[in-house]
Amino acid sequence: MFSDADYMARALELAARGGGWVAPNPQVGCVIVRDGQVLGEGWHTCYGAPHAEREALVACERAGIDPAGATAYVTLEPCAHTGKQPPCCDALIEAGVARVVVGSADPNPLVAGKGIARLRHADIRVDEGVMRAECDALNRAFFHFITTGRPLVVAKYAMTLDGKVATRTGASRWITGADARGRVHEDRARAAAILVGVGTVLADDPALTVRGVEGAHQPMRIVCDTHMRTPLTSQLVRTAHEHPTLIVGGASDTTRLAPYEQAGCEVLALPVTPDDHVPLPQLVDALGKRGISSVIVEGGPVLLGALFDAHLIDRVQAYLAPKLFGGASAPGPLAGRGVAEPSACASLVNAQTTALGDDILIEGDVRYTSGNEDEPCSPVS
Ligand SMILES: NC(=O)c1ccc[n+]([C@@H]2O[C@H](COP(=O)([O-])OP(=O)(O)OC[C@H]3O[C@@H](n4cnc5c(N)ncnc54)[C@H](OP(=O)(O)O)[C@@H]3O)[C@@H](O)[C@H]2O)c1
Repeated sequence: MFSDADYMARALELAARGGGWVAPNPQVGCVIVRDGQVLGEGWHTCYGAPHAEREALVACERAGIDPAGATAYVTLEPCAHTGKQPPCCDALIEAGVARVVVGSADPNPLVAGKGIARLRHADIRVDEGVMRAECDALNRAFFHFITTGRPLVVAKYAMTLDGKVATRTGASRWITGADARGRVHEDRARAAAILVGVGTVLADDPALTVRGVEGAHQPMRIVCDTHMRTPLTSQLVRTAHEHPTLIVGGASDTTRLAPYEQAGCEVLALPVTPDDHVPLPQLVDALGKRGISSVIVEGGPVLLGALFDAHLIDRVQAYLAPKLFGGASAPGPLAGRGVAEPSACASLVNAQTTALGDDILIEGDVRYTSGNEDEPCSPVS
């Protein structure tokens, strides 16, 4: 006999299949069960497509099964509003299910308890919070985006045991091993965008694509490049017709922008900061307005430090390799201004540690300490 948690675990597995494809919508999975038998399964496959509950009900219909009296396990509260699709709670009510088991509550103001209330009003038993932590983790970026209008900004870096992200010559390939790099590609596939500064493009000429993940979604590649120094011969520009690529600069001189656009890049020009850089809070806002719900920052110390100083990093993924580079001039992961006192540090909450081959991934949400001296400041290089 399987438990509610077992069926919710299956719904989570299904929901994960939508990773990257459904953004900025949430990832949702649904399993419909009666008398210990799974009648139908579904998940939200891509943005604009039917929601998980409807997919699972269609699966029942295709199998010639009437789901009346069944239990629906859904990783996220069923929606109660009409967006690109009609409300899911109506579909469950019409199908005559007797019970709905919900993982996460939906903080979307258009839902926020209304879905559950409507189900209960229709005399359907609703049980909430089954595997809530796991369901919440799956939609961390969606929850952040729907409540702030900004993408979840994740700082990802690989460093040696002596805290270096490159050698004294600027070389950084490779710091971590195959397992850790495989995990990076899986995370890229789930992200809406990857952001680097032009310093990383000039040093490493990265492709920033997802490799080795079957059927993966390719996130948008974004370069913070105030003076349009990204080489037209770089991998990013040369593959811009195949993978979405956005260069964010400060110039509005169309003759400078045209070659990038002809190569297939999109160019966004923002008014520069007084110290002549791309304005990072405005950039994050602009990405949110475009519906980009998550950004992994794979940039170097200058961009990461500026984002940190501006309190714009929401989450950190630090890969720690059992290696030593040494060298006073070899950089650490965050440049910028930093904090003056240890008491002003930012900390990771809900931190998790994962062993990946010889490397260790430490990840968690960033909590900043607010104080007079270490208030957010404008980015400096
Ligand atoms: N180990 C790792 O995880 C890892 C990852 C990436 C890179 N790296 C290494 O890091 C080094 C490159 O470091 P980096 O710091 O030069 O690269 P970066 O942080 O990716 O790029 C820095 C550049 O971004 C541009 N930028 C635009 N707006 C900005 C703003 N508001 N604030 C800050 N920067 C802004 C700046 O140039 P403009 O203002 O002129 O545009 C700046 O020079 C290389 O050695 C590379 O191998 C290591």
